[in-house]
Amino acid sequence: MNIFSAMKQRRSTRVYLKKPVTRADIEEVFYYAGLAPSAINLQPWEYIVVYGEEKDRLVRRLIKVHAERKVSCGPGTSARLPEKFSRRSRAVSQIMEPRIDELGLSFNQFIEEGSCSFYGAPVAIFVTIDTLFPKIRYLDLGLSISYLLLAAEAKGLGTCPIGLITAYAADIADALSIPGNKEIVLGIALGYADEASPLNNIKTERVDQNEILHWYE
Ligand SMILES: Cc1cc2nc3c(=O)[nH]c(=O)nc-3n(C[C@H](O)[C@H](O)[C@H](O)COP(=O)(O)O)c2cc1C
Repeated sequence: MNIFSAMKQRRSTRVYLKKPVTRADIEEVFYYAGLAPSAINLQPWEYIVVYGEEKDRLVRRLIKVHAERKVSCGPGTSARLPEKFSRRSRAVSQIMEPRIDELGLSFNQFIEEGSCSFYGAPVAIFVTIDTLFPKIRYLDLGLSISYLLLAAEAKGLGTCPIGLITAYAADIADALSIPGNKEIVLGIALGYADEASPLNNIKTERVDQNEILHWYE
């Protein structure tokens, strides 16, 4: 698969097959994630892979803490979102809602409980960074994560970035004995997509180039 096809085809996968992913396939995806560029080649990203019984145990804990604390997905901005941004996020729920309705769940329930369970994916990934780095180094992590998502796509694997779980970072760190100097920046679900699920056949829209591109000539 060429890079443009992988970029066009990738979408967040929220329904997974029970089919396991081999360790060799997981390692290959991380090989590509590691090829991303970074400032002065620091490669500040670190990945934690959780699968098998360890993943099941962790998911049970996340579902439990979520039931107690009910943290919702949100933009996390310090001020109310300007309309142009909130319109984009509303559009996602509007496309997904009719399909989630069929499961008898609300949008929030599906996204929040689904996120905490890595949507049933066989592999849960955590992206971490050493807390000694400044926030700007998150940029490097983002580049590596993009490589990871595209490499997975090229290998026929589905992914879903999961920011919600960072609300429960202390519980994850405790469960996996992650040291205090590592910040959990993102979770990622990885596995084979259930292509038959209507929830996996949602193509979210992107804004027109004119909205994001500014030319000076
Ligand atoms: C940093 C980040 C955090 C995200 N967090 C979540 C999440 O917690 N739960 C979820 O279901 N999707 C999450 N997503 C997926 C986005 O909702 C999705 O990427 C967006 O709607 C665009 O859709 P697409 O990935 O199918 O192109 C996240 C994506 C990113 C990049």
